[in-house]
Formats: sequence, C-alpha cells, structure tokens
Amino acid sequence: MPDRTYRVIQWMTGDVGQVGIRHFTENPVYDLVGVLVHSKDKVGRDAGDLAGIGPTGVIATDDAEAVAATDADCVFYTPVIMDVDTVCRLLRSGKNVVTTSGFFHPTAHFRDAGEQVRAACADGGASFHAAGIHPGYAGDVLPLTLARVASRVDKVEVWEVVNVLTDAPVDHIDWMGFGKDRDKFLSEPTILGLGVPFFAQSMQMIADGLGVHIDEVTADLQAATATEDIPHDEGVLPRGTVAAQHHTWSAMVDGAPLIVYHAIYLTAGPDQLDPPWDWGRTRYRIVIDGDPPTELTMHGLVAADGTMTHPGYTWTAMAAINAIPDVCDAPPGWLTHLDLGLVQPRGLVRR
Ligand SMILES: NC(=O)c1ccc[n+]([C@@H]2O[C@H](COP(=O)([O-])OP(=O)(O)OC[C@H]3O[C@@H](n4cnc5c(N)ncnc54)[C@H](OP(=O)(O)O)[C@@H]3O)[C@@H](O)[C@H]2O)c1
Repeated sequence: MPDRTYRVIQWMTGDVGQVGIRHFTENPVYDLVGVLVHSKDKVGRDAGDLAGIGPTGVIATDDAEAVAATDADCVFYTPVIMDVDTVCRLLRSGKNVVTTSGFFHPTAHFRDAGEQVRAACADGGASFHAAGIHPGYAGDVLPLTLARVASRVDKVEVWEVVNVLTDAPVDHIDWMGFGKDRDKFLSEPTILGLGVPFFAQSMQMIADGLGVHIDEVTADLQAATATEDIPHDEGVLPRGTVAAQHHTWSAMVDGAPLIVYHAIYLTAGPDQLDPPWDWGRTRYRIVIDGDPPTELTMHGLVAADGTMTHPGYTWTAMAAINAIPDVCDAPPGWLTHLDLGLVQPRGLVRR
C-alpha cells in the first residue's frame, strides 16, 4: 500500500481528463473525489462511464462551486483553455493545481498571469505545476536531461512529427488548416503558430537550464500540397490543397540558432505530397549537436505487424499526473520543472 494517498478532483473530461479518471481509479496512490464537466450530456454520469471503464462511484457534475468546495489535495485541471481566475480560486482554497492547460515556465508572455498564480499560491499555501508531452517534456525536460551527459552543446534540435490521419482526432484536419489553398494557408495565422508563446517557454527552460540568454525567437512555415484527393474519416482533402505543414521555430543565442523546434503535421507520405516530404512515423526526435553528438527518439512501441499506437494523450496526462505527489508534498508556489527536479512517480509498479 502507498505511504500516503492523494485526493484528486478531475476538472473536465476531454481526451486528457479521461486519462486522469482512468489513472486515478487504477493507481492506489490516488482517490478520485470529484469530477467536473462542461458538456451537459455528461452531467449525472459515472466518471468511469465517461472514461470507458467500470463504475467509480463518482458522479460528474457541472456545478463548479460544489466541486471546488470538495475536500481534495489536488485538482487535475484539463479544460480547453486555462482560466487564470479559476485556477487562482482553487489555489486560494488550499488545493494544489496540476494542469496540462496552462503555462509552465516563466516568460514575458505569461508574466502577469504568473504573478497572479504566485500570489494565489502564497495566499492558499498551495502549489501550481503544468506539464504535457510537448511543450512540457519532449522539447525541454528530455533535451536538458540529455545535456546532462554532454560536454559541449552547439545546438538542440527537436522534431515533433505527427501523422494527423492516424494519430490525432479527426477535427484536427479542419482546425489545423489542412485542405486550404497553399498561399492562403501560408499568409494566415495558424493554430500551431498561435501556440509559439507556449513552445517559447520550453526554449526558455532549456536556456535557463544551460545558463544562456535568448535574443529572439524566429519562425518559418512551409506547406506541401496533396498530389491526389486524400480520403479521411469525415471527407476528402482535395488534390492541390495543403496536406502537410512544417513549422520551424529557432531560439537565437549570440546570433546563431541554439534551440530549434520543428512541428511537422502530415496527412500523407511522399507519394501523395508536393514536394514529396518523407518524415516517417509519428514521433519526437531530439538531437544534440555538440560533444558528443547525441540523438534520442521517442515513439510508441512498434508491434510485430508493423503497426504503432501513438500514446500522445497518455503521455500528455501522465507528464503532469506523475508530478502530483511531489507537487502536493512541496512547499507552496509555482513549481516549474526546474524547481521540481527529477520527479518521482508513485504507484506505477502495480503487479
Ligand atoms: N502540452 C501538451 O503536450 C498538450 C497536449 C495535448 C493537450 N494539451 C492541453 O491539455 C488541455 C486538455 O486537452 P484535451 O485534448 O483533453 O482537450 P479536449 O479534448 O478538447 O477537452 C477539453 C474539455 O474541456 C471542456 N470544455 C469544452 N468546451 C469548454 C468551454 N467552452 N468552457 C469550459 N470547458 C470546456 C470539455 O469538458 P467535458 O468534456 O468534461 O465537458 C472538454 O472535453 C488543453 O488545454 C490542451 O491544449 C497539452
């Protein structure tokens, strides 16, 4: 049995929140004590039903005040967008907040919100921590961990490659601008481009960890078009429209790129793309150019039949959940990855 258990509220039950319900139910380190939902059709249902498991005895409600008043050690906060006032209210009530929805490392973009969160932590004697697979792990925790065994770092380069048709919800096709005219796509704001302040936190975390100063972050965007109609679950991407996108964000240090992120989202392979981009499977690839040059690739396990499941939502949720015990046990405050150090996940070995 665990030394101590942690009473947890699941705040919203989307893809990430459902991983939370399953984990808090399976892992004896946690007690699921409340579940808040936004969607009316989820109200009154057992949390297990929402997460595809058996009954948990915890009934979902959309009464935020009642859930916030529940006695709990931590809220696993996973709505679409973090509402700073709500998080501060939870922190002031003495509940720790761990989230995949929020900012996780101090940068100028999140200065005001960060100050509000720090003040609420101090008032409530509680802690705040945010994480995810990327940003929040693959592009910051992992490169810094690799740098631990380097003797010189010339460049850190991180590739996120996602096959949208097999490894993302189908709504990502429209939402990310696939199927648009190429020139229109390249001239308009993109969802990933709007996320640059979130990824810039990861760059800042590496820079802080390595003790260097980022002068600026530059951005580049390229697109490939479909050479034929590409069918998907909800329709067809027409030939000639955007079928792949490659965002490059570079953190410049002393006039040269030190940290470079590539976000590559594809709906097809080289046979159906112009230009014939061949980025391979969904994965995270981290390369440290320096002494010694070092590479790490993270992807799901490839089965004997060659198929591979991408555990993106599990990785995202668990990057945060596994920190809950350390966050609850730490002195109050906004705890970044650098503050927490090496997180010690509890209850993962369950034989
Ligand atoms: N850093 C990373 O690696 C990473 C990766 C993936 C996701 N994320 C972040 O993690 C968070 C959760 O992701 P997700 O994939 O679980 O999102 P999601 O599937 O879109 O679900 C979020 C949930 O928020 C609730 N919601 C929907 N509309 C709402 C509204 N207007 N007001 C308040 N709540 C609303 C819904 O809850 P109910 O269904 O319970 O009603 C919804 O299911 C997001 O902020 C996402 O950006 C981070």
